[in-house]
Amino acid sequence: MNEENNAENVSLRKPIITVLGHVDAGKTKILDSIRGTNIAEKEAGGITQHIGATEVPIKIIQKQAGKLLEKFKFDLNIPGLLFIDTPGHEAFTTLRKRGGSIADLAVVVVDIHKGLQNQTIEAIDILKTYKCPFIVVANKIDTLQGWVVEKGSISENLKTQREDVLEQLDIKIYELVGQLHEKGFASERFDRITDFTKEVTIIPTSAKKEIGIPELLMFLSAISKKYLDKKLIVNDKGTCKGTVLEVNEERGLGKTIDVILYDGMLTVGEEIILGGKNGIIKTKIRALLEPKPVGEGNPNEKFNNIKEIHAAAGVKISAPNLDDAISGSPLRHCSEENEKEINDEIHNIKIESDAIGPIVRSNTLGSLEAIIKLLEDKGIKVKKADIGEIPRKDVLEMESVAEKDKYKGVIFAFHTKVSEAAKIEAKKRNVKIFESNVVYKILEDYEEWVKEEKDLEKNKKLSTLTMPSKFLVMVGMVFRHSKPAIVGVRILEGKLKKGTKIMKNGEVIGKVQAIQSEGKAVEEAIKGMEVAVSIDDAVVEKDLFEKDKLYSFIPQRDFLQLDTISDSFTTDELELIKEIKKMRNEA
Ligand code: GTP
Ligand code: MG
Repeated sequence: MNEENNAENVSLRKPIITVLGHVDAGKTKILDSIRGTNIAEKEAGGITQHIGATEVPIKIIQKQAGKLLEKFKFDLNIPGLLFIDTPGHEAFTTLRKRGGSIADLAVVVVDIHKGLQNQTIEAIDILKTYKCPFIVVANKIDTLQGWVVEKGSISENLKTQREDVLEQLDIKIYELVGQLHEKGFASERFDRITDFTKEVTIIPTSAKKEIGIPELLMFLSAISKKYLDKKLIVNDKGTCKGTVLEVNEERGLGKTIDVILYDGMLTVGEEIILGGKNGIIKTKIRALLEPKPVGEGNPNEKFNNIKEIHAAAGVKISAPNLDDAISGSPLRHCSEENEKEINDEIHNIKIESDAIGPIVRSNTLGSLEAIIKLLEDKGIKVKKADIGEIPRKDVLEMESVAEKDKYKGVIFAFHTKVSEAAKIEAKKRNVKIFESNVVYKILEDYEEWVKEEKDLEKNKKLSTLTMPSKFLVMVGMVFRHSKPAIVGVRILEGKLKKGTKIMKNGEVIGKVQAIQSEGKAVEEAIKGMEVAVSIDDAVVEKDLFEKDKLYSFIPQRDFLQLDTISDSFTTDELELIKEIKKMRNEA
């Protein structure tokens, strides 16, 4: 340890842990299970409920982990774990701080039968951008066929299962390992991990039957120690660093803020600053509140007043002027320097630029930051990003962007309202607004729309362009010699459409007036078909002969267009386009 770390007031704080995963994977149940198993352990120091968080002290983890600690040779020197209770990505993105997340670790909960689902993938993408280490929990193992439930340690539980049940489990685990590999992560079942720094730990659990929770707590503690040692050193009596998790109306208190403190301390009466919709909010702490333990005191009172609070912890702050407070904003003690820091930070996230790009508005700084990051990862530069509802002027602004690039002139409204005026204007001006409360959904909707529009555009282009074709005049299939010539042909490559000019040796000899397949008029004939074509202006045995190979005549300007949609053609068709081009240049 260096000098600074030896100083008084410096200590290791509890790592902050968030739980993420797809809907119904069991996030809430995992937290319940952690609480449930621990609430019974009052004599060991018990868990503490915070605002927005649950604290599990190290004593409990040691007690639960018991022999496992020796087996895995873990030495736990952290004071415990602090779980953020509002699960979901939203909470994760709200837990932002400059350059990352205040969440030190994450638990990604996966339903073992479903593997990585959309929201899980999004969660992993977000964790990746924030460089936040995580553990994967393969939940609901009690539903594996034949699983014999035994509460507690999964290591012990594994010993009592039948061979075929274990095999089932492994099949599921390795499917998960495969999916994580696709996302760029090596992973392994917890008891087969060889290197924590290189592999993501997968712990099979049943939140419902309380299996695997000891391992989860133990591995979280061990990984915290391994990865976070330095990061967890705080000055828990010093100046506060916190993030606003939620802004809530409380009866009798007005607007309050739920804050996660990750460094320093707060005391009643102190002046604090935080980000508001209309600039910095300066206020004075009226009360610091924590949840009242169940069954204690007056049941009408939800909170206990406390005088001070130390990191890491969750606390509700009651103070004047909190109406405009934004979730995800930093919270600090009042000072000029801190005010500048918060202002800079908010300005760093908000965007006001000349980019040919979309407008993003969102309910919290964290989700705004996450969406901007994900858009930038896709090479899309945002023109404007801010908190709050979509005003009419956004639509006008995007209309002019759309004139330059249709795919960039769009609006993203994440967890925020679109004003009526904006809705009307958007309809009138055909400006697309994407609305959702799920980050991945809003981006997926956008990408789907882009794809649909591009396909439409491509099809429109394809229908106006001359398609390449190469066809053979069949022997004994001359039905008429001239005005128009009618012959039987076999399409050797590409697609021959009605109205196409055709050429021989690079010279136009006529135009396809009609195509008949098995006696019926058709618009086009594709590779392999044998059809009768009538050709204006061509004369059999003058312009064309049996066994001739004829080609579509592609006008010069169409070659450029065909290049732009080259992915619509097979390799053979692309070769044919080249052949036709060469033929024309040589003619
Ligand atoms: P959202 O908050 O809606 O995203 O869901 P969640 O991830 O918090 O899931 P939740 O904990 O609410 O669990 C969803 C459902 O799965 C509930 O009906 C749970 O009882 C059930 N469930 C959760 N964990 C387990 C488990 O380990 N085994 C079984 N059999 N069911 C479980
Ligand atoms: Mg839930």
